[in-house]
Amino acid sequence: MNETTELDPPTIVWDDQGACLRVIDQRWLPHRLVVERLRSVDQVVVAIRQMWVRGAPLIGATAAYGAYFAWQNSGGRDDAAVAAAALKIKAARPTAINLAWAVDHVMRQAREASSEGDRAAAALRAAHDIVAAELERSQRIGEHGLTLIADIAARKHGEPVNVLTHCNAGRLATIDLGTATAPIYLATGRGILVHVWVDETRPRNQGAGLTAWELSRRGVPHTVIVDNAGGHLMQKGLVDLVIVGTDRTTRNGDVVNKIGTYLKALAAHDNGVPFYVALPSSSIDWSMATGGDVPIETRDGSEIGRVFGLDESGKPNSVQIIPPGSDVANYAFDVTPARYVTGLITERGICDATEQSLNARFPVNDR
Ligand code: MRU
Repeated sequence: MNETTELDPPTIVWDDQGACLRVIDQRWLPHRLVVERLRSVDQVVVAIRQMWVRGAPLIGATAAYGAYFAWQNSGGRDDAAVAAAALKIKAARPTAINLAWAVDHVMRQAREASSEGDRAAAALRAAHDIVAAELERSQRIGEHGLTLIADIAARKHGEPVNVLTHCNAGRLATIDLGTATAPIYLATGRGILVHVWVDETRPRNQGAGLTAWELSRRGVPHTVIVDNAGGHLMQKGLVDLVIVGTDRTTRNGDVVNKIGTYLKALAAHDNGVPFYVALPSSSIDWSMATGGDVPIETRDGSEIGRVFGLDESGKPNSVQIIPPGSDVANYAFDVTPARYVTGLITERGICDATEQSLNARFPVNDR
């Protein structure tokens, strides 16, 4: 475990001197801040599969560097090993579309290089471009989403705006501002009072462990709640707005996101609470008609049976919480039908969760 003393290490950064990719191993947060160096396709696959890195845009960015490692290994030859490496990276996790999108993009850019000798360099540039593009998308999503928070703040005459979020669609899931958190960070930066209800997000606790950690570090008031509390809070008028991220949104506007998102959308619908999805275009799957077609990842049952944390002596540890003989089913994502989505906050503005509206923002020749 490479614990770091860096105060605010980037979620992902290319280290030119070390010729490696530095990422935070998020499995240890919020208890330890560990930075690891990735130097090969296999290490990238492990980091994605074991969720050292997670969150759709970050998975995509990491995968992009994996594709670069493949071209570097082959010396720019477009051989069977490069194709196999691309497939292996794309298979590391099935649901976030950013993964396949980023690998395909890097492969295309490398193949378009003028000579074999230029291919690895072209792949590296393409990976850097993906990181830069995600940064830009988060900034734009933040600016568009800020208007929603500012409007509610104006109606509440400066009382804090209560935003509920699920999982981690923050800095740790992307590169800097996050997607669902970007409007929150920009709003607090402008002096708007925001309070965030943070779903713990069982089984891996991305809310309790990651979102709460990054909100704490940025000084954003927040309260961690159990996953089932959201409906109750909405009934009591304690949620003004829900903003979540997405791992894949299909062209009709169905939103695939961390398991439990659907139930939040149902509760929001029943209580008249606006339910928005922060959506970088890298998470749109134009090839899929509806969310029902998206592969839903099922993960190891141990994530449900055991809970990770610090023990009483302050050491990271996990404990068993279910009887040894019980079966478990660990579905990692669910589909929120477009009809429950008030709007999609994209880098090109806020639009309805419909095919027509998405097409108007992202015409076929400009995606
Ligand atoms: O399993 P994870 O932690 O990779 O799931 C992440 C999520 O579901 C996020 O909400 C989603 O990727 C959006 S991240 C901007």
